[in-house]
Amino acid sequence: MGLQLPKRMPARTRRVGLLLAGAATLMALSGCSAQEKESIKRLAQPIGISDRTPEIHSLWMWTWLAAISTGIVVWGLIGYVVVKYRRRSDDEIPVQTRYNLPMEILYTIAPVVMVLVFFYWTVTVGNEVQRKVAHPDHTIDVVGQQWSWTFNYVADKDLDGQTTVFQPGTTADPPTLYLVKGESVRFNLSSPDVIHSFWVPGFLTKLDVMPGLHNSFDLTPTRYGTYRGKCAELCGVYHSRMLFNVKIVTKAEYAANLQRLKAAGNTGLALGSRETYTIAGQKGAGE
Ligand code: CUA
Repeated sequence: MGLQLPKRMPARTRRVGLLLAGAATLMALSGCSAQEKESIKRLAQPIGISDRTPEIHSLWMWTWLAAISTGIVVWGLIGYVVVKYRRRSDDEIPVQTRYNLPMEILYTIAPVVMVLVFFYWTVTVGNEVQRKVAHPDHTIDVVGQQWSWTFNYVADKDLDGQTTVFQPGTTADPPTLYLVKGESVRFNLSSPDVIHSFWVPGFLTKLDVMPGLHNSFDLTPTRYGTYRGKCAELCGVYHSRMLFNVKIVTKAEYAANLQRLKAAGNTGLALGSRETYTIAGQKGAGE
């Protein structure tokens, strides 16, 4: 390998250097699958599948870039002072810098500026993720209960515009949520028991499902496919089995699923429990 280490380096330093270079080469050469390489390019984020995900993805990438740049500057300065002010043979202690006002102002202001920039972009992207659609094409009432999900397709115009049908699930038989590519959805979240969290990793965002509080969010799926969803809030003994699938399909396939649910007799709004209605001051989802 064409690695040239300076001749005057002590033998031990050279050995360590060669070892590190060897390890780095091995890591670079060891096979990453095409999928892993793709994932590395997104810095481990899943592929975004909604109209809200590009913004979240840029926030993720820019945050990493900011963190890495800060790291490089800080590590660089540490390395610089370690080398430049290392102990020398003349044994003189370097100048000790204390009460350096400009430096203290710099290291107070710099982090404050960084936090403000992160804050601004987090709020901006947060608002975009929370942006509500005026008239969503579909309304789905999601019920998270110990320990599965129920998806209510509320008076969907792809059925008859009146009948609400539901897809129940169990830990043994996780439900599948159907969505139409290119059509907006409003998710209304409710829980009859404890706090769950509705998480489809491909949405790059998640939202708590709280008893007595009706969180909701809107988005438009942008990519066909079958994806995974799960509960992201420790909610009891079978939390890890609160899984579901998400299928982003064509309008025809979506309508066929609604027909199937209706034919199976899954009509009406299934909210998991009466509790959803009876917590003081709260209305049930879909009311
Ligand atoms: Cu529901 Cu964890």
